[in-house]
Amino acid sequence: MVKIGNVELKNRVAAAPMAGYTDKAFRIILQSFGCGLVYTEMISAKALIYRQEKTLAIADVSDEEPSVAVQIFGSEPDTMAAAARLVVELGADIVDINMGCPIPKIVRSGEGAALMRDPEWAAEMVTAVAEAVAVPVTVKIRAGWDAQNINCCQVAALAAEAGAEAIAIHPRTREQLYSGRADWELIRQVKEQVSVPVIGNGDILSAADARQMIDYTGCDLVMIGRGCLGNPFLMREAISYIEHGTILPPAAPSEKLAAARHHLKLACRFKGADRGTREMRKHLAWYIKGFPYAASTRVRINQAHTPQELETILQELEEMAQQEDS
Ligand SMILES: Cc1cc2nc3c(=O)[nH]c(=O)nc-3n(C[C@H](O)[C@H](O)[C@H](O)COP(=O)(O)O)c2cc1C
Repeated sequence: MVKIGNVELKNRVAAAPMAGYTDKAFRIILQSFGCGLVYTEMISAKALIYRQEKTLAIADVSDEEPSVAVQIFGSEPDTMAAAARLVVELGADIVDINMGCPIPKIVRSGEGAALMRDPEWAAEMVTAVAEAVAVPVTVKIRAGWDAQNINCCQVAALAAEAGAEAIAIHPRTREQLYSGRADWELIRQVKEQVSVPVIGNGDILSAADARQMIDYTGCDLVMIGRGCLGNPFLMREAISYIEHGTILPPAAPSEKLAAARHHLKLACRFKGADRGTREMRKHLAWYIKGFPYAASTRVRINQAHTPQELETILQELEEMAQQEDS
């Protein structure tokens, strides 16, 4: 049984926080395929404490299964502490501090990956947040700022000392953004450095990758990001392979379409038909990857303005898939 602080997780597979993707609808889908730990999109601590409606909606984790980590970002310990208190009031099981976002606007404000450049300041942030809330506090870090400044082990150690109860690491530097390969060796080093659970992240695209990361690095959990876009089934595949060594068959086209439709319904329920439709276009493009006529279907998806139009497209794909099966 993996525990983060006092939070017991049902397995060793987490879904990565992804702005623009891991909203409530997608989190529920990921949980329905067994995912043991989901994260919200990153949320600005400043925006939270102004209680902007849109921001509070991103932090809403009500009626979700445990365990949900709400990820906040900022550069001021007091603001982060106040934001943490608020997200716990809204139901967060875990508060995660973003120390990895590479976006220029964010790092210019001293937030996200900028914290990797000042490990002591980052640790103060952890102390302030850990003192403010009773739920576990975790951090998500990168390898370091750039190739000359790989300091994830130092940041991880200081964060753990300051009260972080798990360390998630995406072992690319801020400078790398998402290019090159994630350096799993650094996950192994962080695991050796700290005694709190380590969550390894980066380039897991299959159940075999997930198992291999655990075997190679000794990490306690794996965190899957891009690999689960349009493919939440990867959650159950990874869990099965990690726990039982069993490789599950890939999801059938009809199951993919059923998940896509469920996802569409949830998105429209939580965000309304207009926004739900707009935001689902990118998800549906992922779900139909590998389907016959995927390219022309994507064009139609992008031109759809109502959930009914998207529903019709999915229905047609379903009929095509059934014909192929028979
Ligand atoms: C579209 C997108 C949005 C992301 N948003 C966040 C975020 O809000 N917070 C965060 O810590 N990381 C964010 N990340 C980074 C991922 O959590 C993860 O560390 C990265 O994608 C590497 O994992 P992967 O190879 O499994 O995708 C984002 C990544 C992508 C592709």
